[in-house]
Amino acid sequence: MQASAGAPASSTAKLAVVVLIGLAIPIALYAFAFQFLRIGDPTFHARFDTVPAMAAFHVLGGGFALLAGGFQFSRRLRTTAPAWHRWLGRCYLLVVLLGAIGGAVLATMAAGGLVARVGFFLLALIWLWSGAAAYLAIRSGNVAAHRRWMVRNYALTFAAVTLRIELGTLTHLFAVPFPEAYPVVAWLAWVPNLIVAEWFVLRRMPA
Ligand code: HEM
Repeated sequence: MQASAGAPASSTAKLAVVVLIGLAIPIALYAFAFQFLRIGDPTFHARFDTVPAMAAFHVLGGGFALLAGGFQFSRRLRTTAPAWHRWLGRCYLLVVLLGAIGGAVLATMAAGGLVARVGFFLLALIWLWSGAAAYLAIRSGNVAAHRRWMVRNYALTFAAVTLRIELGTLTHLFAVPFPEAYPVVAWLAWVPNLIVAEWFVLRRMPA
């Protein structure tokens, strides 16, 4: 990510993109293995098996969004292969749409009770909304607004990464039982991401 479309990308911005992609890849691979190899918590699979299409939309859509979205922030890709950027962007928004619809359905039955369910449901709505705003901005030719919405949207996609880091830290490092940790991370996985994204947008991508 960089300050403006014309300015050269700083080494910090390049490093940030590498770190984003480096964290996104293993979680995306986990999502694909969750779907096709059925790794992960069997109680999740039992819930997901009651809505298999929605679960597949969510897990595969989310996995692909994590992978594709990270590369979209690469300045080199945007400038050397703009057609590729456009096609990957369309695919990204399509899988965000599928992932968010599936996520909203899964949210209604998620572990962690009402607090977790509301947290996940709201995340799905804002994920969808920010994706729609990014799409409408680029369709109306407003590149600056499109970039700002995409930063916000990918910060939400990245909740899949922050959730797993936070859940692992709380349950393994601090021995917080899963039923107590899960409602916390259903919010903590995305609200701070959105705050960081907004800070970045205000500082580096002014309207
Ligand atoms: C950003 C919006 C997202 C929302 C609203 C969301 C919501 C949810 C919900 C409600 C569940 C089920 C929890 C339960 O049954 O207790 C779930 C599970 C899951 N989600 Fe997402 N999610 C999002 C993003 C992603 C992304 C980007 C990925 C890609 C890796 C992903 C991959 C998964 C996987 C693999 C599971 C299975 C449970 C696990 O093993 O952790 N999600 N998600």
